[in-house]
Amino acid sequence: MIKHFLSTEDWSQQDLNQILNEAGYLKEHPIQNNLAGKSIALLFLNPSMRTRTSFELGMQQLGGTAIVLQPGQDAWGIEFESDVVMDGNAEEHIKEVAGVLSSYVDMIAIRAFPAFQDWQVDRLDHKITGLAKHASVPVINMETIIHPCQELALMMTIKNHLKTVKRKKFVLTWTYHPKPLNTAVANSGLLISSKFGMDVTLLCPNKHYLLDSHYLDTAQAQCQANGANFEISHDFETAYADADFVYAKSWGALPFYGDPKAEFEQRKQFKHFRVDGAKMALTNQAKFSHCLPLRRNIKASDEVMDADYCVALEEAENRLHVQKAMMLNLMNQPINM
Ligand code: CP
Repeated sequence: MIKHFLSTEDWSQQDLNQILNEAGYLKEHPIQNNLAGKSIALLFLNPSMRTRTSFELGMQQLGGTAIVLQPGQDAWGIEFESDVVMDGNAEEHIKEVAGVLSSYVDMIAIRAFPAFQDWQVDRLDHKITGLAKHASVPVINMETIIHPCQELALMMTIKNHLKTVKRKKFVLTWTYHPKPLNTAVANSGLLISSKFGMDVTLLCPNKHYLLDSHYLDTAQAQCQANGANFEISHDFETAYADADFVYAKSWGALPFYGDPKAEFEQRKQFKHFRVDGAKMALTNQAKFSHCLPLRRNIKASDEVMDADYCVALEEAENRLHVQKAMMLNLMNQPINM
């Protein structure tokens, strides 16, 4: 059976910890040759700065080759649906794309955001599951409806600062943004913090901004299994109080999915959902982070972004180290630490 990295839900905390330990070693010893002769195709259906740079550079630092493809731009557009007459814009089917790339490269990574039309369809994450079904090499998720590589970078950052993470208070706060964004990083924030036994608080304006039930239920179950708490809050003071780590993200309200005008009528009331110094002062001297990119003074103030407690750049750097560790793991190339 092929080992993929589609979601951290498929991996044990113990195995993820091993990846994080190896990432720590790679941070100190970045240049290795374990993947000489190996290659990865990076399929970007959506824009990227951090993910593309860190994967391309990471593969190079391990002695391998990365090939970036942007289907619909510099590569043929891909059809992901089964049993369709392909009379639209896509020139080839995922079955052929997966088959051909599997014959060339040793791993395939994909970024495929949801279509933002029908959440009941998008929540099935059918583009990456279709690729994994038809590929004969490991597939890596570079962000779909979850962002597991970001999860690893986040947990590496949290562990660096909090050391013991179990029962430490992790607050995932919704923030304002002019557009309804993907829920991926928010879903992932819940998955990884609960998997590692943190006390998790989800802070959002109201019930419209709750995340998909699968991620709420999984976070609740993982917290319970770890003897930790899971709470939902719509109140700044109680949510920020005693927080050890504050993680910010904006996302679109699922009941208005596919209708950005109606969603904007909801969100425009919540511009005060911005992380600022006064809110951070309520915490237990918490660290603050965000996956980036971030609009300053919309999602978080300059004061927060420029503070010593902001570790967003460290989290971004850690993307490089955790992804290298994951590629080595998927290629069965353990590091001699
Ligand atoms: N955080 C993140 O995935 O950044 P990019 O969208 O720039 O890749």
